[in-house]
Amino acid sequence: MSYQFLTFVVVDRIATITVNRPDKLNALNDATIAELGVAIDEARTRDDVAGVLLTGAGRAFVAGADISELESQSPLEATRRSRAGQLIFRRYETSPKPTIAVLNGFTLGGGCELAMACHLRIASESAKLGQPEVKLGIVPGYGGTQRLPRLIGRGAALRLLLTGEMIGAAEAFRLGLVDQVVAPDALLETATQIMRAMIANAPLALAGCIEALDRGAELPMDEGCAIEADQFGLLSSTSDMREGMRAFLEKRPPVFTGR
Ligand code: COA
Repeated sequence: MSYQFLTFVVVDRIATITVNRPDKLNALNDATIAELGVAIDEARTRDDVAGVLLTGAGRAFVAGADISELESQSPLEATRRSRAGQLIFRRYETSPKPTIAVLNGFTLGGGCELAMACHLRIASESAKLGQPEVKLGIVPGYGGTQRLPRLIGRGAALRLLLTGEMIGAAEAFRLGLVDQVVAPDALLETATQIMRAMIANAPLALAGCIEALDRGAELPMDEGCAIEADQFGLLSSTSDMREGMRAFLEKRPPVFTGR
């Protein structure tokens, strides 16, 4: 697949998707969002990819939706733009292969929303996060009003949404918006190590955790637990389950095949 606004590189079963419009701080124009959709589908379907790192070129992860495109949108165009982006970001959230947002700099607006759609967020000490949409007279349109309170709680979410303030990585960590903060030169290596640890596990078990959490998180406890039990049962049909348990009992590392 070839991309205009992204790079897509696979090394050792890890796909690194890099948003690559550094002169515009990787602002998400519609074409870039569409390419993000193609890229996650490429990662999801390729057998040589087990996990995804998503980052930005230059001094931003993503500094938001491209304001030059939003400026003249009609209400109908805006609604369509929002729905199209939401569906693409969901592809990251529901990916059966783990996704990590690697936050190398400005992570604002649609950038923060994209990061929240990934399974984990690892931030450089220099990253700056926020949802500044209210300063432009809009609300977040790519899931921010929904994912932010689920991730950091209603009060902290409302603070960020209503002030539009930019916070540093340490504050984002304190709020639970990012999972780890590291020095800029250790960022990619740290994210890669975390991804390696994840993809060393049984792929269908990873997918089962992601699906149970995604489908069950907003349900009453009993319904969520029923989804978990289904996954637990389904995974007992896999040869990877037998391999994982046999390897433990034989005191050797498992060799998983994804079957
Ligand atoms: N949409 C379109 N262009 C953007 C952009 C966005 N969201 N964010 C940055 N850019 C562009 C700037 O217009 C500028 O382009 P130019 O060189 O052609 O003028 C370039 O990226 C560099 O940005 P600049 O503002 O000069 O850098 P800075 O270091 O002074 O400020 C930010 C960095 C992130 C604080 C500032 O760019 C900003 O506030 N961006 C918008 C953030 C935002 O509101 N996002 C939500 C959008 S819904």
